[in-house]
Amino acid sequence: MSPLSRLARRWNEGLERRVRERTEELHRLNLELEAEIGERRCIEDSLRRRAAFEQEIAALFANFINLPSHKLDQEIARALEVLARHTGADVSVLWELTEDGGALAMRHQWVNEDIALPGEPRELYPVKLYGWWMDRLRSFEPILVSCIDELPDEAMAERAAFRALGLRSVMAVPVASRGWLKGFLALWAIRATAQWEEDDVPLVRLAGEALASALERQRSEQQVRRLNSLLEKRIQRLNALRQIDICIATGMDLHISMGMLLSQAREQLGAASAVVLLLDEESQTLGYTFSEGVPLQSLEQTRLKVGEQFPGQAALTGEIIRVDDLETLPQKSRPRSPALLCGEFRACCAAPLKARGTVKGALELLFEEPISPDREWLDYLAMLASLAGIAIDSHRLVSDLQQTNRELIAAYDATIEGWSRALDLRDRATWGHSDRVASLTVRVARRLGVPEEDLVHIRRGALLHDIGKMATPDTILLKPGKLTEEERAIMEQHTTHAYEMLSPIEFLRPALDIPFCHHERWDGSGYPRGLKGEEIPLGARVFAVVDVFDALTSDRPYRSGWSRDRALEHICGLAGSHFDPRVVEAFMQELLEHGGLCEAA
Ligand code: C2E
Ligand code: SIN
Ligand code: SIN
Ligand code: FE
Repeated sequence: MSPLSRLARRWNEGLERRVRERTEELHRLNLELEAEIGERRCIEDSLRRRAAFEQEIAALFANFINLPSHKLDQEIARALEVLARHTGADVSVLWELTEDGGALAMRHQWVNEDIALPGEPRELYPVKLYGWWMDRLRSFEPILVSCIDELPDEAMAERAAFRALGLRSVMAVPVASRGWLKGFLALWAIRATAQWEEDDVPLVRLAGEALASALERQRSEQQVRRLNSLLEKRIQRLNALRQIDICIATGMDLHISMGMLLSQAREQLGAASAVVLLLDEESQTLGYTFSEGVPLQSLEQTRLKVGEQFPGQAALTGEIIRVDDLETLPQKSRPRSPALLCGEFRACCAAPLKARGTVKGALELLFEEPISPDREWLDYLAMLASLAGIAIDSHRLVSDLQQTNRELIAAYDATIEGWSRALDLRDRATWGHSDRVASLTVRVARRLGVPEEDLVHIRRGALLHDIGKMATPDTILLKPGKLTEEERAIMEQHTTHAYEMLSPIEFLRPALDIPFCHHERWDGSGYPRGLKGEEIPLGARVFAVVDVFDALTSDRPYRSGWSRDRALEHICGLAGSHFDPRVVEAFMQELLEHGGLCEAA
C-alpha cells in the first residue's frame, strides 16, 4: 500500500467515523427535540383541560345561584358528570346528610358506562357506616387515596364490592356551606396508581361548596313552604274554633254549634263521620244525639253503657281512645261501636266531652283510611272535644235555668191567686170577683195598646189591688154605715200600705202601679198622691174604671148594689173628672163587644 493510499484510507475512515458520529449526534438531538415537543404538547393539553374544567365549574357555580329548586337535581347530575370527566373518575357520588344529621342519603351518582353496578344503590346509609369519612371531612380537608388497600377496615366496610368493580382510588371532599357540613362528594377511579392531580383538588372543593349552598337554599325553600302550609292550616283551624266558640257564646241553637263542630272535625281531622253521644246521668248510658256523615236515625235507638265500646271507654276513663288501623287487630278483637258498623272504616277514635270537671258525653270519629296522628292533630281533637263539652254544658245550664225560672214564676203566680182569693173573702164573702176584675182590666188595657209582656204585671197588680186593706181594721172595713172623716183617712191608707207591702218584693215591683195608684183621679182630686192625668200610670187609670164599676154593682155593708145601667151612666158622667175619658171609651166598647162583670153584678 502506498503511503498515499494509506493516508487516503485513514482520511476516509476518519471522515466516515465523523460522518457516523455526526449522524448519531444528529439522531440523538432529533430524539431529544421530539421528547421536548411531546412534553410541551402534554403541558399544553393539561393547561387546556384545566382551563375547560375551570370554565365548566365556573358555569356550574353561576348556574346554581339562580337555579329554580325544581331544576336542581338535573344540574347536580350534570355537575357530577363534569367532575368525573375532568378528574378521570369512573364514579362520582353526592352524599347528603339528612335534616336530623342521623343518616347519609345518596342524593345522586354518576357512573361511567364501562362500570357495571351490582343492583340498585341503597337509599340511606347510617352515618356511622361513614363515620371514618365524616370524622375526617369535619375538618373540611379533602381525603385523597390512590389505592383503597391503604384504607383501614373501618373506612372500607364494602371494600370487596369496590374491588369487584375495579375501583381503586378515591377523592372525597366536604360539601359544606358557611361552616356546616351538608355531606360529601366522592370520586372513585379504576386507575390503580392514579395520583389525583393536586391541581384538581381545589376545583373539586369549589364544586363541593357550590353544591352545598344550592342544597342549603333548596332545603330552606322547602322549609319555608312547609312552615307556610303548616301556618295556614293552623290559622284555618283556629278560625274554625273561633267561629264555633262565638256560636256557643252567643247561645246559638245547640244543633247549629254542634253541626259546625262536627263538620270541622271531618274537615280538619280527616274523619269520614263524626258523632256526639250524650251521657244520661241517671241511667249512666250514652245516646247518639248529633251526627255528621252517618244518618242519626240508624243510631238513635241504640244506647251504650258507660265503659262499653270505645265511646263508652272514653266517657269512663276521660281519655282519648283510638285505633289507628283496625286491620292491625285480629278480627275478633276489633271494636264494634254502632256508628263504626255503619260503614267501611279503617280507623276510629273517641274523645270524652268534659265540662266543669265532669264527663258529659263522647265525640266519636270514624276514618276511611288508617290515621297517624301528630301532636297538632291530637291537640285539635282535644280542643274540639272541650268546646263540645262547653257547648252542651252551657246549653243545659241555660235550659235548666229557664226551667227553674218558669217553675218559680208559676209558684209565685199561684201564691198571688191564693192571696187575692183570701182578700175577696174578707171584703165580700165571695170569691172569683178579683179574678174577673183582673181579666176585664187586662182586656181593656190590651185594647188600649199596652204591650203583651206588660199585661202580666197588670194582671198581678189588679189581683192584689186591695192588699193594703189587710191593714184596715174590720170595724172600719165592715162598717154598715157611712165612714167618719177619721175612718175615711184610715181607709185611704190602704194604697200606701199596699206600696209598703209590695215594694220590697222584686218580683212584684212592676205590678205596683195598680195597688198604689188605683184611687188617683184624672183631675188630680184622688189619693194618695193627687196625681193628675197621664201622671197616673195607664194600668191604674184602666183599673180605676173597672174597680168603681165593680164596687157600684156589688152589695156593700153600707149599701146594696146598683144596676149595671145606673153604674155605667155614673161612670160615663165621671169621664174627664174622675176617669181618663179615653179609658172610659175603651171600657164601654169592651163591654159592648164582649160583655163582662155583669154576671158578677
Ligand atoms: P170599694 O167599696 O171597693 O169602693 C171602691 C171605689 O168605688 C170607691 O173608692 C168609690 O170611688 C167607688 N164607690 C164605691 N161605692 C160607692 C158609692 O156608693 N157611691 C159612689 N159615688 N162611689 C162609690 P173610695 O171612695 O176611695 O173607697 C175606697 C174603699 O173605702 C171602698 O172600696 C170601701 O171599702 C171603703 N168605703 C168607702 N166608703 C165607705 C163607706 O161609706 N162605708 C164603709 N163601710 N166603707 C166605705
Ligand atoms: C238537645 O238539645 O238535643 C239535647 C241537649 C241537652 O240535653 O242539653
Ligand atoms: C187574664 O185573664 O188576666 C188575661 C186574659 C187575657 O190575656 O185576655
Ligand atoms: Fe181600693
